[in-house]
Amino acid sequence: MIIQKVMVIGAGQMGSGIAQVCAQAGYEVVLNDLKDEFVDRGLHVIRKNLSRQVEKERMTVEEMNTVLDRLTASTELTDAKDVDLVIEAAIENMEIKAKLFAQLDEIAPREAILASNTSSLPITEIAAATKRPEKVIGMHFMNPVPVMKLVEIIRGLATSDEVYQAIEDMTKTLKKVPVEVNDFPGFVSNRILMPMINEAIYTLYEGVATKEAIDDVMKLGMNHPMGPLTLADFIGLDTCLYIMETLHEGFGDTKYRPCPLLRKYVKAGWLGKKTGRGFYQYS
Ligand code: CAA
Repeated sequence: MIIQKVMVIGAGQMGSGIAQVCAQAGYEVVLNDLKDEFVDRGLHVIRKNLSRQVEKERMTVEEMNTVLDRLTASTELTDAKDVDLVIEAAIENMEIKAKLFAQLDEIAPREAILASNTSSLPITEIAAATKRPEKVIGMHFMNPVPVMKLVEIIRGLATSDEVYQAIEDMTKTLKKVPVEVNDFPGFVSNRILMPMINEAIYTLYEGVATKEAIDDVMKLGMNHPMGPLTLADFIGLDTCLYIMETLHEGFGDTKYRPCPLLRKYVKAGWLGKKTGRGFYQYS
């Protein structure tokens, strides 16, 4: 299985980061989203990140331009017709993902691998929307993608060993570390991370400590790079709530119930850094 051309669907925070690391690793990359303005925004972020590398003298202007030349903008799914791998990083909604994968199954070459960057939805269910479940796999990147080393590789029930191996090898070419995980709600990363964040929100909700104190305890006491409430703002409170709901529903265990304060913030539209307000305010 030779991977040369990759389509990334979704030019948001995760999709643009994935497109950037793929282009930097030498892949030809098609960055796709619903509207030109979304793709332009993603390309703008990539340009900004690469320019920072040039400023820090880690990359020459020529190298930056070579990377940028590997990126093509797209708003049509039909552009998947000649790619070897699709990495979907669209909205976390099963209905939307199932529809996307069914369409991609019709368009992409028969040999192409269809991967999802979903943070907690079942790969097996996404795969069931296609006629090639053995070629569907999870590639869960961490935010910020250009910095974080981990990619959780999730095997769906039907994912073939050949496809798993191709994706593990491809991940290494991105200078990332692949870790194999089976398909259960939240995989490993969010099964452990999100209940910790949810518990931090409960701690605030119950008045155990201020938000700053909670973050300081985890930063200074546990050596976490960010406190859990800052991290929740960084990930997006809507995403945190969605993942908690997926865990709650998937396991049917009340230990995963989302904190009412998290629900309240999401209802208020306080979604974290991206909306300028979450647990903290951002100017
Ligand atoms: N894009 C690209 N590069 C970025 C970046 C971004 N968004 N944010 C920071 N960086 C780079 C900086 O340029 C800097 O690079 P150099 O060291 O090469 O100069 C480096 O990262 C460190 O940045 P800063 O010095 O500005 O800040 P920092 O030391 O606090 O690090 C951080 C920032 C890497 C984000 C760090 O705070 C961190 O690791 N936080 C935790 C992140 C985390 O837990 N991510 C996982 C979230 S969960 C997830 O993604 C999965 C899910 O499904 C929800």
